[in-house]
Amino acid sequence: MAADQGRLAGKVAIITGGAQGIGRAYCLRFAQEGAAVAVVDLRDDQAKGVAREITQQGGRAIALRVDITSEEQTAEMAKQVKAELGRIDVLINNAALYYDQDIMDQSISYLRKVLEINLIGQLICARAVYPIMREQRSGSIINIASTAAYPLPLPPMPFDNFGTNAYGLSKSGMIYLTKMMSRQAGQDGIRVNAIAPGVTMSEATKKIVPDFAIQGLKAGSPMGMTLEPDDLTGTAVYLACEDSRLMTGQTLVVDAGVWLNG
Ligand SMILES: NC(=O)c1ccc[n+]([C@@H]2O[C@H](COP(=O)([O-])OP(=O)(O)OC[C@H]3O[C@@H](n4cnc5c(N)ncnc54)[C@H](O)[C@@H]3O)[C@@H](O)[C@H]2O)c1
Repeated sequence: MAADQGRLAGKVAIITGGAQGIGRAYCLRFAQEGAAVAVVDLRDDQAKGVAREITQQGGRAIALRVDITSEEQTAEMAKQVKAELGRIDVLINNAALYYDQDIMDQSISYLRKVLEINLIGQLICARAVYPIMREQRSGSIINIASTAAYPLPLPPMPFDNFGTNAYGLSKSGMIYLTKMMSRQAGQDGIRVNAIAPGVTMSEATKKIVPDFAIQGLKAGSPMGMTLEPDDLTGTAVYLACEDSRLMTGQTLVVDAGVWLNG
C-alpha cells in the first residue's frame, strides 16, 4: 500500500519491542497502513532487520537501540524520532520481559526485574513521548497488557510464587496505569488505551509455553483458535487511528474468547 493511502497515513509510530514476535507484526502492519515507524528494541540487529524490511517495501522506518527502563535513553529516543520522522503520533508500549522470563525464579530480585521492565519501563516510555504529544495536542498511547492480568481459574498458587505471578502482576498494573494515565492525558488531547492479548503464537510462546497448554487454550476457545501475531495488529491500528478518537482508558481483550470461560 502507498504510504499516503493507509488508515495511518502521515502518522509516526514508536513501537517498542519491535524486533521480533508481536512487536514486529505491529511494525509491519503500521507501515502497510502508511505510518512511519521507529522500531525500538534492545535486540539491535533484529530491529534493524525489521526497519530494513519496511524500507525495502517502500515504507519509512528507523531502528533504535533503547533500553525502555532508562529515562536518558527513552528521552533521547523521543528526541531522535521527532528529529528524524517529524512528530510522534503513536506509542505502542509492547516491549516486555516475556521470552526471557524464568518462571522458576522465585526471588524478589526477579519480581523487581519484571516490574521494572513490564510496568515502570512502559511508564518511562510514555513519559518520554508525552511532552511532544502534548505540544501536538494529539497522540495515542497503546499499552500492551495480557489476559495474564486476570486471575486464572485454577487452584490458588503459593503466596510467594513470584516467578509465575510477577508477569500477571505487571500486566494488571498496566491496565490500572492505562486508566490513570488516560485521566490526565485527555486534557492534553492524548488517548491511552490497552490491548490484552491471549496466548499468541509468537516465537517466544513456542519456546516457553508447553504444547499441552496450547491445546488446552484451543479447547477453551469457542472458536477453537489460538492467536497469531497478525491477529492483534488490526486492534492496534484501530486504537491508533481516528476511528477510536473518543475512546480512552479502555482495555480491549483479544483472545479468541478463552476468557469468556474464566
Ligand atoms: N505472546 C503471547 O502469548 C502474549 C500474550 C499476551 C501478551 N503478550 C505481550 O505482547 C508483547 C510482545 O510479546 P512477544 O510474544 O512478541 O514477546 P517477545 O519476548 O518475543 O518480544 C518482546 C521484545 O521486547 C524486547 N525487550 C525486552 N526488554 C526490553 C527493554 N528493557 N528495552 C527494550 N526492549 C526490550 C525484547 O528484546 C523483545 O524483542 C509483550 O508485552 C507480551 O507481554 C504476549
